[in-house]
Amino acid sequence: MAKLRVAVLISGGGSNLQALLDMCTAEGSPAEIVRVISNVPDAYGLERAKEAGVSTTVINHKDYDGRESFEEALHQVLDSERVQLVCLAGFMRLLTDTFVQKWKDRLINIHPALLPSFKGLHTHERAIEEGVKFHGATVHFVRPAMDEGPIIVQACVPVLPNDTPEELGKRVLAQEHKIYPLALKLIAERKVRVSGEKVVYNGVDNLMNSAINPEG
Ligand code: GRF
Repeated sequence: MAKLRVAVLISGGGSNLQALLDMCTAEGSPAEIVRVISNVPDAYGLERAKEAGVSTTVINHKDYDGRESFEEALHQVLDSERVQLVCLAGFMRLLTDTFVQKWKDRLINIHPALLPSFKGLHTHERAIEEGVKFHGATVHFVRPAMDEGPIIVQACVPVLPNDTPEELGKRVLAQEHKIYPLALKLIAERKVRVSGEKVVYNGVDNLMNSAINPEG
């Protein structure tokens, strides 16, 4: 089967991008990252892509009048690469409903919380503030409403007494680096489908173990 052609959109450090690059450059990977696009010209993630030999494009939102023209530029690049799946990895721009609808079920995001809890920003601070005992990360298909959409994979971590947002964030990020490549692999292997706004797996055994167990 041909490799799934993937674009990754970033705005920052790109540690999740790195996890996806590592998965895609491993032998026998079912997916290939064909382009990394950043809206921030000096995002460190661009260096990671170059290091991995992946083409990069900067589309600086400040150079555009509005979201529509910014997304038009985005589309041109995605179309030129015949991209089949777009991964948002720390991409800090809201996308229009039109863009999201056009890429329905072909656009995924990682969010640093157990959705549907803690949508939006500052998730680790808010988890500590609420006193939840478990927190985590979610990879999901994107829908027009922010941080909503069918859940593909989640991983949870304990919230420990006296955790700071930074410590908790590190624990969550380590799990993000496991579940984002896992979700991409499942999609690329055609093992994921959306039915009634829920993700259904085909031919997947022991997924929760592989996602949650750090040794798994
Ligand atoms: C991650 O926590 C991700 O969940 C969130 O933004 C952060 C990006 O980190 N959407 P990085 O750029 O992948 O290191």
